[in-house]
Amino acid sequence: MIPMVDLKAQYQALKSGIDKRIQKVLDHGQFILGPEVYELEEQLADYVGVSHAITCANGTDALQLSLMALNIKPGDAVFCPTFTFVATAEAISLVGATPVFVDSDPDTFNICPIDLEKRIESTIRDKQLEPKVVIAVDLFGLPANYPALTQIAKQYNLKLVEDAAQGFGGEILGKRAGSFGDIATTSFFPAKPLGCYGDGGAIFTNDDQYAEIIRSLRVHGKGENKYDNIRVGMNSRLDTIQAAILLEKLNAFPEELSIRNSIADCYYKSLSAEIKSPYVPENFTSSWAQFSLLHPQRNDMIVSLRTQDVMCYSYYIKGIHQQKAYEEYVNGEYKIAEMLSECILSIPIYPYMERDEIDRVVEILNAL
Ligand SMILES: Cc1ncc(COP(=O)(O)O)c(C=O)c1O
Repeated sequence: MIPMVDLKAQYQALKSGIDKRIQKVLDHGQFILGPEVYELEEQLADYVGVSHAITCANGTDALQLSLMALNIKPGDAVFCPTFTFVATAEAISLVGATPVFVDSDPDTFNICPIDLEKRIESTIRDKQLEPKVVIAVDLFGLPANYPALTQIAKQYNLKLVEDAAQGFGGEILGKRAGSFGDIATTSFFPAKPLGCYGDGGAIFTNDDQYAEIIRSLRVHGKGENKYDNIRVGMNSRLDTIQAAILLEKLNAFPEELSIRNSIADCYYKSLSAEIKSPYVPENFTSSWAQFSLLHPQRNDMIVSLRTQDVMCYSYYIKGIHQQKAYEEYVNGEYKIAEMLSECILSIPIYPYMERDEIDRVVEILNAL
């Protein structure tokens, strides 16, 4: 079976370095907030190009901690795409605010700035909620349209949060994912472009005050120490062993990213014209968390790939507005998101993919 991501192959390639780093943690025994956590935070901040990287337990907590730092509360409206993983909206609900779903751009699949503006205007007109934040998602590795989103956030006096759970490694004009907006977040879920061997996440910001609040929030709202509690916080720390694994994987990341890009190039060159390959705007770079194509016979493609031992998934078969848990927030139409959920298919892409595996995927798809 050709998997979506081959973590075993990656481990074999990086084994000696990863094993050494894990052993070092086992030897020093500082399993929570040990030295590797702070070393990783410095390296992440350097890589992304921001002043602060604060690790935490997962990408969902990273979003919740960001909204808590922005003081988002019941009665506040937080705009986010409907075509994303549920965690983006979940974090909004967890702080008691209201998600306002926005439709997608049909080419990039990211939040549509035109629809965003319409929904901000109608929220202002309704006077029920106070518009506060936009969360944009770097879907499948492609940064959202931050030039346009930054303008809109400024115009309406909203904070901008970048959900780079899938975007770590992407760029716009050389500026890296994780550096857009007021606060950005990422996930180190194992299958992500930079993943650990469990759950993990991080928050990025250039704002010293947000960074200080988030460092407190992740340890029970600590003041001087965790037994001095100056605000209501969470228990959301990255384990030292996960930080050690990530340090080794971050070393290999630039090389892995360039291999992901060359696999994407192979797909672009070889897939038939009837298959709509993902669109990457000029000056944008994707981290290729997923290679997601569009085809009206998507369901036939799934059957064909899986019966020939190639894994594939439809991210996402529903917009969040179509999920039962969020039905009370449906307001208006989401035509593009619904079209995407019917036609989208993600195919295998990972740095340890062999040429004959790429060819096999292409051959099956082109034969349809
Ligand atoms: C867009 C997006 N946001 C947030 C998350 C949440 O990350 P985690 O699974 O680490 O909580 C994910 C994870 O899949 C995601 O894809």
